[in-house]
Amino acid sequence: MHSLCDVIRLGTAAPALALALCLWGAATPSFAQESPAKPPLSVFRPGEIWPDNHGRPINAHGGGILRHQGVFYWYGEHKTAGEAGNTAQVGVHAYSSKDLYNWEDEGVALAVAPDPASEITAGCILERPKVLFNPRTGKFVMWFHLEIKSKGYDCARSGVAVADRPAGPFRYLGSLRPNAGVWPDDLSPDQRRSLNDREKTELAKYNFTGGPADPLPFPGNLVCRRDFAQGQMARDMTLFLDDDGQAYHIYASEENGTLQVSQLEADYLKPRGRYCRILIGGFNEAPAMFKTEGKYYLLTSGTTGWQPNACRSFSAPAIFGPWTSLGNPCRGTEEQNKNTFESQPACVLPAPGRDGQFIFMADRWRSHNAIDGLYVWLPLRFDNGLPVLEWKQSWSLDVFNTRVADAGK
Ligand code: DGJ
Repeated sequence: MHSLCDVIRLGTAAPALALALCLWGAATPSFAQESPAKPPLSVFRPGEIWPDNHGRPINAHGGGILRHQGVFYWYGEHKTAGEAGNTAQVGVHAYSSKDLYNWEDEGVALAVAPDPASEITAGCILERPKVLFNPRTGKFVMWFHLEIKSKGYDCARSGVAVADRPAGPFRYLGSLRPNAGVWPDDLSPDQRRSLNDREKTELAKYNFTGGPADPLPFPGNLVCRRDFAQGQMARDMTLFLDDDGQAYHIYASEENGTLQVSQLEADYLKPRGRYCRILIGGFNEAPAMFKTEGKYYLLTSGTTGWQPNACRSFSAPAIFGPWTSLGNPCRGTEEQNKNTFESQPACVLPAPGRDGQFIFMADRWRSHNAIDGLYVWLPLRFDNGLPVLEWKQSWSLDVFNTRVADAGK
């Protein structure tokens, strides 16, 4: 019913955009007051209100950055007031910047649909949008975690949208559970079978709550095999574009117990039919991937809902693994290390003009009044081969010893 091919809808963007803009106006953060133009920003202030070009707090949570033709585009969840603001009332908001400090409001790039029958109707859960530009098709492709309205986090789907321009409007294509009918690379031929009655009974003992709260050890490949026909669960997610042009979808799967790394088709619109399960039973979410000197790195969090927990880092010689734990990258006070500076990873951005240096982007969620969520951006450096994050009250790209003027090159 929700397959990507079934759900292609054309021509819904305009009314949806109008509705979203309307809601957007009514959805100014509780702390937001429009203020007169201020001098341009030249530093990052992690955890502080970050105004856009109108003086309004940037509203792009769980975000990702696309760099296209010298311009950075920041896409994220547009949050609204109250707890209901954790669900999508407006859509995905986009901002653009040439220097990463000063962001221009580009409006709602993907609007929730006015049609209550739409999968992306207001009140659905639409999280962690990420966008890639596809040079073969000339399209901008957005993937996001989608939960159908009023079904909590049970559906665990991925939504896909496409646009001709980086700031949209994006047109919703549909949603899917990745890799239906496809066995992962890491299952041996004798493991590639549906569950028998004994295994079904064993699995029924689990009450997966989305985290490792279950006292039983994670049941190996049972969840993956259970979901073989209907497709794999996909919650927190990111996209990663490798040097060879192959795009990947990385998502928290198997009741959040395992991450899966899945190749995308050349058009980036659907899975290519090759994927691998990584960090099996690790209960990782909020994945953020980056690569330097031929090695893949992954930052994740544990699974504690909107509450922050300790960040985790991993590396691998190949994207399908083997992945090795590099421990908690935070170097701060005990409290800061335990809660990742009170934040959860959103993505890791290559520092402009500086190979091998990165910017960590994270969310400081405020789930009781979602719109008050803040951003924590910190430089990510390597120390003895380990990614390291240190708190900075304020910092600039100078820490990377790069010139802002090089940013778009
Ligand atoms: C943690 C995830 O990382 C967020 O994106 C969101 O899904 C919350 N859980 C919901 O509790």
